[in-house]
Amino acid sequence: MTMTAPQPQTKYRKDYQPPQFLIDSIDLDFQLDDTQTRVSAVSRVRRNGEHQQPLVLDGQGLELAEVLLNGQSFTEYQLKPDQLELSSLPDEFELTITTIIDPLNNSALEGLYKSGEAFCTQCEAEGFRRITYFLDRPDILSRYRVRITADKTLYPALLSNGNRIDSGELADGKHWVQWEDPFPKPSYLFALVAGDFDLLEDSFSTRSGRKVALEIYVDKGNRDRAFHAMESLKKSMRWDEERFDLEYDLDIYMIVAVDFFNMGAMENKGLNVFNSKFVLANAKTATDNDYHGIERVIAHEYFHNWTGNRVTCRDWFQLSLKEGLTVFRDQEFSSDVGSRAYNRILNVRLMRSRQFAEDASPMAHPIRPDAVIEMSNFYTVTVYEKGSEVIRMMHTLLGEENFQAGMRLYFERFDGQAVTCDDFVQAMQDASGIDLGQFSRWYSQSGTPVLTVRDSYDEASGVYRLHIAQHTPATQDQSDKQPLHIPFNLELYNSRGEPQPFRINGQSVSHILNVTETEQEFEFEGLSEQPIPSLLREFSAPVKLDYPYSNQQLALLMRHATDLFSRWDAAQMLVAKQLKSNLERYRQEQALELPDEVISAFASVLEDESLDPMLKAEILRLSDESSMAELFDEVDVDGIHRVRCFIKQRLAEVLLPRFTQLMGTLNRDEAYQINHQAIGERSLKAVCLSYIACADKELGQELVERLYKGADNMTDTMMALSVANGEQLECRNVLMADFEKAWSHDPLVMDQWFALQALSPAPEVIDSITSLFEHPVFSLKNPNRVRALIGVFSASNPLHFHRIDGAGYKLLAQVIRELNTLNPQVAARLITPLIQFKRYDSQRAALMRSELEKLQQLESLAKDLYEKVSKALS
Ligand code: TRP
Ligand code: ZN
Repeated sequence: MTMTAPQPQTKYRKDYQPPQFLIDSIDLDFQLDDTQTRVSAVSRVRRNGEHQQPLVLDGQGLELAEVLLNGQSFTEYQLKPDQLELSSLPDEFELTITTIIDPLNNSALEGLYKSGEAFCTQCEAEGFRRITYFLDRPDILSRYRVRITADKTLYPALLSNGNRIDSGELADGKHWVQWEDPFPKPSYLFALVAGDFDLLEDSFSTRSGRKVALEIYVDKGNRDRAFHAMESLKKSMRWDEERFDLEYDLDIYMIVAVDFFNMGAMENKGLNVFNSKFVLANAKTATDNDYHGIERVIAHEYFHNWTGNRVTCRDWFQLSLKEGLTVFRDQEFSSDVGSRAYNRILNVRLMRSRQFAEDASPMAHPIRPDAVIEMSNFYTVTVYEKGSEVIRMMHTLLGEENFQAGMRLYFERFDGQAVTCDDFVQAMQDASGIDLGQFSRWYSQSGTPVLTVRDSYDEASGVYRLHIAQHTPATQDQSDKQPLHIPFNLELYNSRGEPQPFRINGQSVSHILNVTETEQEFEFEGLSEQPIPSLLREFSAPVKLDYPYSNQQLALLMRHATDLFSRWDAAQMLVAKQLKSNLERYRQEQALELPDEVISAFASVLEDESLDPMLKAEILRLSDESSMAELFDEVDVDGIHRVRCFIKQRLAEVLLPRFTQLMGTLNRDEAYQINHQAIGERSLKAVCLSYIACADKELGQELVERLYKGADNMTDTMMALSVANGEQLECRNVLMADFEKAWSHDPLVMDQWFALQALSPAPEVIDSITSLFEHPVFSLKNPNRVRALIGVFSASNPLHFHRIDGAGYKLLAQVIRELNTLNPQVAARLITPLIQFKRYDSQRAALMRSELEKLQQLESLAKDLYEKVSKALS
């Protein structure tokens, strides 16, 4: 008889039970060692309520060395798979558990592991159980004291949460530090770091006058790359006081940058651990986008101190309570300190490309999931980005003042507690008096609603009618859908592009309509001509819009919409229209066409001197093939590639003189600067260059080479390389080789190079990727390298990933097989493009499916992968 591995268990939101025991405090003692770290945990435990159940602790991959009850040896326990069950316990006791763990061989990067020479931890969501046996769930809030002992020369810095209260030296070349965190916290916020770092120090005076020490720890030699992160931190702290009235609460805030990290960063109380990608930057190594990303992620983790740490989640189904809200806060921060329209464009682009795709995939789930096998699989664009859109809709419905009153009430009620999404919505409702009953369906319903809008105009009465129907298509997890409460932002324009005030029932009304029913009609009075509607302004709800705009109407909105986001959105719709009509022509083997009014719409954007360069760049830039794919239920890989090339080529050829002329006016002030205008001009330069190289290879090559050679910053360098790569210019290989030689010592910079390799349109791209696995800088053990090369290839090079012989699928599946044992979290994130196979033609779908079936047969399939593969194949 063969032993089959137990089927991974599904956990359901409805099964939540309060904990049987509480743990008021825990003292942890770490004796750090590469392969034999000794962890002693002394917990003060209390029975919660009247019952005689055993205490069931979570634990994974631990060697149990000792169990003591109130200091005495204790044997009334049973070791079960991933659990330690203790019985015959008093109602209150002190439990000592000693475990031995192996950080060096921990390639999953959960729990305690080594990143290069340093020790660090990652406990969210369920990593603490890889350190000691514990009630590893977010509704157990405990006071932590942590003592770390390690070799003094190898690990001069010994860090944990809260305040450093004591330290000392030991005879054998070791030293120790004692930490105490005064705030009770869930185990997922525990952190420990030990290493030899460069330190950047600064301080921040809070509004109430407390001085907070700010410390950023980076690898030796990288201190000059930590200044931007420090500035971002101080900006975030100030902004949270000003906009949300929230002050930092400890005397020290530490950030450590590590090279091996599964995600972006982690908000551990007082001791954030960051992927070095989101800390390290200077002009030589980082692009404008990197700077922007660092500022955002630093802010995000800082904002968690209130939304996540002070008020945390009752259970992991409530993850969006902290993530949706904190993403909303970081988006608002970026918008307030930078360009609101630009940030909105970035957020909406992500929603439409990745989140809509997730909702249409086998992994579809509401922002508050109902069923989970592996929690790591639910750190998704749905929980994060759609979660933020749901908070944003509440903000739209309530207005800033009521929303802030809701936030105050939320903290008044729940500070120091672990709560639910319903608790948050209730606070918003109570503080504002606005009924959020129907609105709260956004938390339980998955899928992307489609709003179908039709209109009519009656000249005699001057009445304009909008008919709005909402429909949410069934998703794999949920067949029945209810109508949602949708804030629908609109504006009406006359034929000269002037906004028209509007009235409903004699009342002039705000821009926001409340769409609540399956079908609804709105009547606007007093319009002297048929208006052009600007619909779903600001992307006021995460929905798809269906309205039969003409090219002329969209061209007018592109030029005249009062908000810049709507101008960009009109351009998106205009291109989408051309894409769809040309795909039709392509299938019928007719000649492709781009109407003159489309070209002139782009020409007038190009020539609009009053338009912010950053926005101009976003409007002119065509979205990539994988984003375009999201406009269709069934994806025609080759057709989209063909038509996108055609549209770009046409625009480039006709507008070449204007692109060239505009390019000459940009960044004339030679020295590199980081401010809105300069960044915007660089971004616009990149767009111009890409069109120029598309229309005229020779001129493109000349400009690219000049830019590359003259570049004193990474943004210009990458711009040149990326155009050379994307347009397959002759200089491409020489420049790529030059860059490789210049940067081989710096893996973070080389990730940009790996990503370009992965994006290459050249037919031999799969072979080059395969040979890059042997590149000295590449390693499957480092998630950043894996994402840069394989992640980018499979998510953003659809033409070759979906090669008709299945070579792209094979490549990805092979990497996933290796990561299944090395790092299941990363493996499960990479698999996303494969599980979407139902949206492709039968030949491709069959090839993708067969790779999934092979994965399903793996002997020790990690439950992260099991969950996604089995959903995809069911
Ligand atoms: N809470 C982190 C954030 O949003 C996310 C995170 C960091 C995470 N590391 C993780 C989630 C590892 C799961 C696993 O900023
Ligand atoms: Zn977060």
